[in-house]
Amino acid sequence: MKTIGILTSGGDSPGMNAAVRAVVRTAVSEGMKIYGIQHGYEGLIEGNISEMNVSSVSDILHRGGTILKTARSERFMKEEGRRKALDMIETFGIEGLVVIGGDGSYRGGLELSKMGVTVMGIPGTIDNDLGYTDYTIGFDTAVNTVLSAVSNIRDTSSSHQRTTVIEVMGRHCGDIALYAGLTGGAESILLPEKPVDINAVCRKIVQGINRGKLHSIIIKAEGVEMGTQELADIIQQRTGQETKIVVLGYVQRGGSPTARDRMLASKMGDKAVQFLKLDSTSKAIGITGNEIVAHDLADALEMKREFDETALKIVDVLSI
Ligand code: F6P
Repeated sequence: MKTIGILTSGGDSPGMNAAVRAVVRTAVSEGMKIYGIQHGYEGLIEGNISEMNVSSVSDILHRGGTILKTARSERFMKEEGRRKALDMIETFGIEGLVVIGGDGSYRGGLELSKMGVTVMGIPGTIDNDLGYTDYTIGFDTAVNTVLSAVSNIRDTSSSHQRTTVIEVMGRHCGDIALYAGLTGGAESILLPEKPVDINAVCRKIVQGINRGKLHSIIIKAEGVEMGTQELADIIQQRTGQETKIVVLGYVQRGGSPTARDRMLASKMGDKAVQFLKLDSTSKAIGITGNEIVAHDLADALEMKREFDETALKIVDVLSI
C-alpha cells in the first residue's frame, strides 16, 4: 500500500493525538503518502482531507483531544453517506484507512470494509468497552483524572462527614468506575453490568458509621439504571447521613495522556501501519497481556467484554 488515510471518530480520548503522531510518522518512514481526514466520517463525506507530513504532528504527543477533530456522523450511518465517503476515498486514491475510535467508529469502519476498503481500527475511547482488547487508549488517563477528583472529594467529604455519590462516564461498561473505585477506596461501586443492590450500599454505609467511619464515597457509572440523584436520596433517607452528588462529566475526556496511554498509542499506531504496508485485510489493533495484537475487524466486534468480578469483590473486602 502506498497511500493511506487517518481519522478520529466518536468521543475523543486522551492519547488519540499520540496515535495520530505514531501513524503519520511510521507511514512517512515507510515511504507512504498519508492523508488526514478532519471531523471523522463526516469530514470523509465532505472531502475534508489533506496530506500530512512529519511536521503536521509536531508537539501533539502530550495534548489531549484530537488535532483531526471528531464527530458522531449521522450521515455515515446511512448507505447514501457511506457511498459519498467511498467516492472520496477513491478520489484521493486512499487504499487503507486508519480509524481511531470506539465501538460505533469500528462498526462504521466495518461497513467501509465491506465496500472494499481496508480498515485498521485503533481503540481510542475512555470507556474501555471493546471486548477484544484489554485496554483502550485514553482509559488510563480518564481513570487517573477520576482518581484525582475522588481524592479531592474525600477531603471535603470527610471534613463534613458526608456520603458523596460520584457519577463517572461509562454507558455500557463500568471499567472507569471499577478502576477508580478500587484505587480511590470507594465504599461501593455501581456498574451498568450489575443490578443495583441498594440494601448492600446502605448497609456498608451504616456499618461504617457504626464503627466510627466519618464518610463514604460511592462511585456510580452513568449507565447504571438508577439515577444518581435518586440513589443519593435513598441513601440519605435510609442512613441519615447527608449525601451529595458530583457528576464528573467531560472533565474525564480531556487532559494530557498518561505515559501508559502514550505507550499504547505509539505501539498501536506503529502496528496499524505495519499491517497496511503488508496489504493486510481489515484489522482491529489491541493489547492482550503485554502484547500488541491484531484481530480480524468483524471478529473483534463480536468479542464480548467481561468485567473484572474479582476486582469488585476486592473492593467489598478492602472498603470495610
Ligand atoms: O464513549 C465515550 C463517552 O465519553 C461515554 O463515556 C459517554 O457516555 C459519551 O462518550 C458521551 O458522548 P458525547 O460526547 O456525545 O456527549
